[in-house]
Amino acid sequence: MIAIRGTGSAEFTDRLESVMGIYTAAMKPPADQLAGRQAIMRGHGANPAFRCLFAELPDGRAAGFAYGFHGQAGQWWHDVVYRALAEKSGLQVADAWLGDSLEVAEIHVHPDYQGKGIGRALIHALCEGRPERSAVLSTHDQPTAARHLYRAVGFTDLLTQFVFPGGYEHYAIAGTPLPLPPR
Ligand SMILES: CC(C)(COP(=O)(O)OP(=O)(O)OC[C@H]1O[C@@H](n2cnc3c(N)ncnc32)[C@H](O)[C@@H]1OP(=O)(O)O)[C@@H](O)C(=O)NCCC(=O)NCCS
Repeated sequence: MIAIRGTGSAEFTDRLESVMGIYTAAMKPPADQLAGRQAIMRGHGANPAFRCLFAELPDGRAAGFAYGFHGQAGQWWHDVVYRALAEKSGLQVADAWLGDSLEVAEIHVHPDYQGKGIGRALIHALCEGRPERSAVLSTHDQPTAARHLYRAVGFTDLLTQFVFPGGYEHYAIAGTPLPLPPR
């Protein structure tokens, strides 16, 4: 039995080691990227209206997590995506999607627990009750479980085959109006 529980930045920061354990098992990133990723996540915890959801096993250990925060000018991801969307679709479209947005920054389920509906429950819980008019995210532009999940809960593509500055992998930027359509 898995319980979804919401928390704020203090508990997220306290549990960063377990968060990184799930992230590493789910994403299998190169070992030399882990320290940088952990620093980015720690920084995310300080962003406005930060909210984290843990999917917890009966013993309290986390099987998955998702977190997001209010996106705003001055945040790296927000500014990069805003510029790219404005270039492609105009300022009005960029403002509509990113002017009052929840940035869904991370969602990961440990491989032992994937495919059981936890990811879907996490993203619904993360978006529930948010005051923002949209939710936005980026994900590898490949036919992954994540891509499938985001489409299934209502996200549509805003940009595809997008390469972040300094990167080389292709990402999709996706968005949905809030609240999410009912399950
Ligand atoms: C993406 C992720 C969070 C989804 O969590 P999950 O608990 O496995 O997902 P759910 O069980 O809620 O399934 C959600 C949907 O994805 C589908 N799905 C699950 N695994 C899939 C796969 N390997 N390929 C395609 N679809 C898949 C499910 O069938 C379900 O869709 P449906 O209800 O239409 O059948 C999880 O798979 C994960 O952590 N993946 C690795 C890390 C990652 O990619 N994170 C996102 C980075 S942006």
